[in-house]
Amino acid sequence: MLTRLLLGLLAALLVSPTIGSKDIDWWENAALYQIYPRSFQDTDGDGVGDLNGITQRLAYLKEIGITATWLSPIFKSPMSDFGYDISNFKEIDQIFGTMDDFDAMMVQAKKLNLKIILDFVPNHSSDECEWFHKSVQRLDGYDDFYVWHDGRVNAETGEREPPSNWVSVFGGSQWTWHETRQQYFLHQFQVKQPDLNFSNPMVREHMLDVLGFWLDRGVDGFRIDAVPHIYELRNADGSYPNEPLSGWNSDPNSYDYLDHIYTKDQPETVQLMYEWRDYLIKYQAEHGGETRVLLAEAYSSVETLSDYFGSGERQGTQMPMNFQLMYLNGYSTAKDVVGAIDYWMQTMWTNHQTANWVVGNHDTQRVADRMGAHKVDLLNVIVNALPGASVTYYGEEIGMSNVKTECTEISCDDRDGERTPMQWSPATNADFSTAEKTWLPVGSDFQRYNVKTERGVARSSLQVFKGLQQLKSSAAFMAFKQTNGFSYTAVTEQVLQIVRTNNHNEEYRILVNMGNKMEIIDALVDRVFEYILVTAYSVHTPGETIDLKGRIILMPYEAIVLRWLA
Ligand code: NOJ
Repeated sequence: MLTRLLLGLLAALLVSPTIGSKDIDWWENAALYQIYPRSFQDTDGDGVGDLNGITQRLAYLKEIGITATWLSPIFKSPMSDFGYDISNFKEIDQIFGTMDDFDAMMVQAKKLNLKIILDFVPNHSSDECEWFHKSVQRLDGYDDFYVWHDGRVNAETGEREPPSNWVSVFGGSQWTWHETRQQYFLHQFQVKQPDLNFSNPMVREHMLDVLGFWLDRGVDGFRIDAVPHIYELRNADGSYPNEPLSGWNSDPNSYDYLDHIYTKDQPETVQLMYEWRDYLIKYQAEHGGETRVLLAEAYSSVETLSDYFGSGERQGTQMPMNFQLMYLNGYSTAKDVVGAIDYWMQTMWTNHQTANWVVGNHDTQRVADRMGAHKVDLLNVIVNALPGASVTYYGEEIGMSNVKTECTEISCDDRDGERTPMQWSPATNADFSTAEKTWLPVGSDFQRYNVKTERGVARSSLQVFKGLQQLKSSAAFMAFKQTNGFSYTAVTEQVLQIVRTNNHNEEYRILVNMGNKMEIIDALVDRVFEYILVTAYSVHTPGETIDLKGRIILMPYEAIVLRWLA
């Protein structure tokens, strides 16, 4: 009743004509898709995906309504962290192909009007990077390129110890002794990923040069890796302060042992976002074209993300990635979903009228494992029905699951399970590769969950996903920014309702039953709606109508999209 009243009031207050796409910049409601290049499509038969494979599959992204894709790293790398350890920031790793292949991919992307966003990994390089070799040798200009320190001498034992108690994200000390240079170097991640020293203007210059290099090759923006970790606090005397204990993890080798007040989200990092954005703005002013974007990977508080976004003159990353929905689990109710949405909206929407929703990535279990296979479509519906940009990890649109993997010579990473080959068809290796052995195994469920099969099945995950993407360009969905024409509520503990309207002549109601019981909802609004999209568990068919003055019944795990047209 209260919801009805509020909605009525909102509609009365905000009656305005349909607002067109020109008022929204492309990234603001983009349908983004993350490709993990090693696992998308192999064309040279070595069992590892490559750039030609991506080029070949861009038409698929277009088919399912994607507007931009971000690629995990494709640069020269010893692959200790599968490309997040870069040894040359301006070269393509041969496993992915050549610079010509890259250029060909860009040509095809432009032809299809798809934006390409590259992964930019500024916090660290590989220890096999030429810069690190030069720094080890203290060559002119490279002496301070990385974070070096003599360490501390323990007053009691007389032994040399690391400069501070800092623990790396992957566990163990962040400091490793380098025999040749006879100093410790800092690495917030693996030993093979030494941290670059951003207090050194030369490092910042080199990184701007990297951005310029790829912008000149036509990319539309960057996903910035590990943003919070870029700067660390250094005392005026050159020492590094110990971090306090977190109090909730007692293993001194675990990252969570400490409260990262000196190694995360430092004020200089916020400034750096503004510098990089300025660089992109200037680039666009000089070279034309559409807005170049920055996506920031930052597992930080929403207040900090708001700083990274910036305001007024100080513009930063347009998309500090919103991971709130990734924290949901199999027990999460519609009320929990609303809580997760609220956490973002209360700061980011209120302050900046911006939103993005990430459903997964290569560091996190897939939705089918995190929340349950029957909830994959529900999550896909939610992230695409909310206002703003959606970010889909490859394979989530067909309901792929984590795969049980075993350590091999190529890989032994606890994240392997969510990085397995894309499932294209029921043929051998799911049509990912002609190799005898793919770098990670293909999921054993590929004959059921694959693109080709799902294309032909009504209400498959793929069809639901596609249907949602089509709505993103409707008048009601496009009007979100100018009219605040949306709302989201838990109408019961388990049923989420998202309303999208242009406050004029078009309205969608998206209802999602997160629970395993049938739900009956009375009197949502006094109007007749049409079913336009239903998920697998629905007993309805698109084209049917329903008067929401009466009651509506939702099956367990059912999601539906209803439309009202004036
Ligand atoms: C975040 C990336 O997503 C992850 O895969 C990587 O291991 C770390 N950053 C280090 O670059």
